[in-house]
Amino acid sequence: MMTSLPQSAQPLVDPQGRTIRYLRISVTDRCDLRCRYCMAEQMTFLPRAALLSLDEIAIIAERFIARGVTKIRLSGGEPLVRRDVGDLVRRLGRHVGTGLDELTMTTNATRLESYAGAMVDAGIRRINVSLDSLDADRFRYITRHGDLDQVLRGIAAARAAGLAVKINMVALAGLNEDEIPAMLRWCVDEGHDLSLIETMPLGAIDEDRTDRFVPLTRVLADLQTQFALARDSHRTGGPARYWRVGDSKTRLGLISPLTANFCDGCNRVRLTTEGKLYLCLGHDDQVDLKAALRDGGIEGLDVAIDIGLSRKPARHDFRIASGAAPAVARHMSVTGG
Ligand code: 5AD
Ligand code: SF4
Repeated sequence: MMTSLPQSAQPLVDPQGRTIRYLRISVTDRCDLRCRYCMAEQMTFLPRAALLSLDEIAIIAERFIARGVTKIRLSGGEPLVRRDVGDLVRRLGRHVGTGLDELTMTTNATRLESYAGAMVDAGIRRINVSLDSLDADRFRYITRHGDLDQVLRGIAAARAAGLAVKINMVALAGLNEDEIPAMLRWCVDEGHDLSLIETMPLGAIDEDRTDRFVPLTRVLADLQTQFALARDSHRTGGPARYWRVGDSKTRLGLISPLTANFCDGCNRVRLTTEGKLYLCLGHDDQVDLKAALRDGGIEGLDVAIDIGLSRKPARHDFRIASGAAPAVARHMSVTGG
């Protein structure tokens, strides 16, 4: 494959004047868990032939780096179930410090015990771990068969290897809402950050998301009665607002895509497992970077990226309404969380 770069790599600025600096990549739509808010029990995954090869993912990622992206997150599905993911981490890790400020990963930690060391060696410094309960039975129920102990061992291995950990917890009415203060307490004790997430209407699942939706405004009011929370000015260009927890090292993030408007500062785009570039998590508009790369090499890729960027929507249009179809048909695991 041709990899020489044209000189005309333009920075990635969309029609709203927002500069794209953050690329999220779903390296696989598969996962070894089946979290109820994320997936149906019976999922049809993409055929392997439809996926970008590891080399293609790297070429596309490197093109984004050349055009000004400074942060890449690998996600999924569960990135660590893709067999060659270690090679991708090592290859992209070479750009950390020279173009990339940060390479990160979102993982469910089931396989973290065996990967943590390699991730640190490759230049990863921080990871996000999806963990919705610290109660083994609840954890098994929410994930449909997950083993909490295995996940906690993965997290411990990550910390021992020197990785900073942020826990992602999706707030679910009747499933884990009552556990949120205990989760924050645990994160303070362990030195993790915690981000609480509202369920988003992405992809068909087996239940009605409306029944589980927890507005984080309610959660925050409750937490403020138990913790000294101070607003933190930290911004990531995403839908999160942050608080400091007492004098601990823990930062609490509230990710409220439905109740907070964050789109004005959006700095990100998403690459799917199939090579499609989505300009917004809440819209179906996409461009096919796999086809562009295969047909037109790097120049074709640049043209397709520019077309995509010119179509980046000004904002998402999520809403959670009883009986309504999901805002977008694809699951988070396809687009990358
Ligand atoms: N709504 C909100 N969060 C979701 N996640 C997966 N699906 C959804 C959804 N529909 C979360 C996972 C993970 C992160 C990438 O996204 O728990 O932490
Ligand atoms: Fe897998 Fe994450 Fe979805 Fe759970 S939320 S099924 S761990 S991709």
